[in-house]
Amino acid sequence: MSSLYGGVSGRRVTVRDLAGAKERGEKWAMLTAYDAMTARAFDRAGVPVLLVGDSAAMVVYGYDSTLPVTIEDLLPLTAAVVRGSSRALVVADLPFGSYQASPAQALETAARFMKEAGAHAVKLEGGRRVLPQAELLVSAGVPVMGHLGLTPQSVNAFGGYRVQGRGQAGDELMADAKDLENAGAFAVVLECVPNELAERVTTSLSIPTIGIGAGPSTDAQVLVWQDMMGLTERPAKFVKAYAALADELDRAAREFTAEVSAGVFPAPEHTYT
Ligand code: KIV
Repeated sequence: MSSLYGGVSGRRVTVRDLAGAKERGEKWAMLTAYDAMTARAFDRAGVPVLLVGDSAAMVVYGYDSTLPVTIEDLLPLTAAVVRGSSRALVVADLPFGSYQASPAQALETAARFMKEAGAHAVKLEGGRRVLPQAELLVSAGVPVMGHLGLTPQSVNAFGGYRVQGRGQAGDELMADAKDLENAGAFAVVLECVPNELAERVTTSLSIPTIGIGAGPSTDAQVLVWQDMMGLTERPAKFVKAYAALADELDRAAREFTAEVSAGVFPAPEHTYT
């Protein structure tokens, strides 16, 4: 269990705790969660930050990108994760189209996630183009997590899911990260960027960086839980599977099906008299 989590017994992790971890050079983990039971399991395991990612579009709702998911889709998942956890900071991802139009739109959306679902912070994708949004949210008391590099809501503009920030684009990403920090963001996700760039950004910022496909230098690491538990069929290169849940689900479902067909289940111990 991370000492960040162990050090804040009896209450939720806060953005101040994460700032303290950066000062101490302490690394920490973030996992996605989309329902109460997995949130409870990850919370008990000591994961200090849970992200209700718009990746729900793919892993919960079955779309082939994050673009279609809506505020209405994500609000109940966020509320379930908040109810299922008691220690983790819960971050709500703002879905595509729910914050880009204006700072006022971003505040309206963020307020819904905080009031209706109980989220403790929000995440939005992009650098300088969403700075006015980040500034207004921060001034309204909403903790903001940035997201740079491969920002999946821009997959059509990128022309696919590919590594970002190579060459001159690295300097632009660095400027975006600095601007987000100056706007008051409490952390920034770096997705699919070269290790050297992630290291440069991490040492230049006083707020934590959270890597996904960004190498070992970032202050924290995040993975989509279905990827790290071995449920995803073709995971990306940066994913490590810590379990083989797809195999285990397959085995258990086959066994159940066979036992029902054979009349073995339910046995007397599963039967009321
Ligand atoms: O939506 C998501 O799960 C994310 C993480 C991969 C950072 O944005």
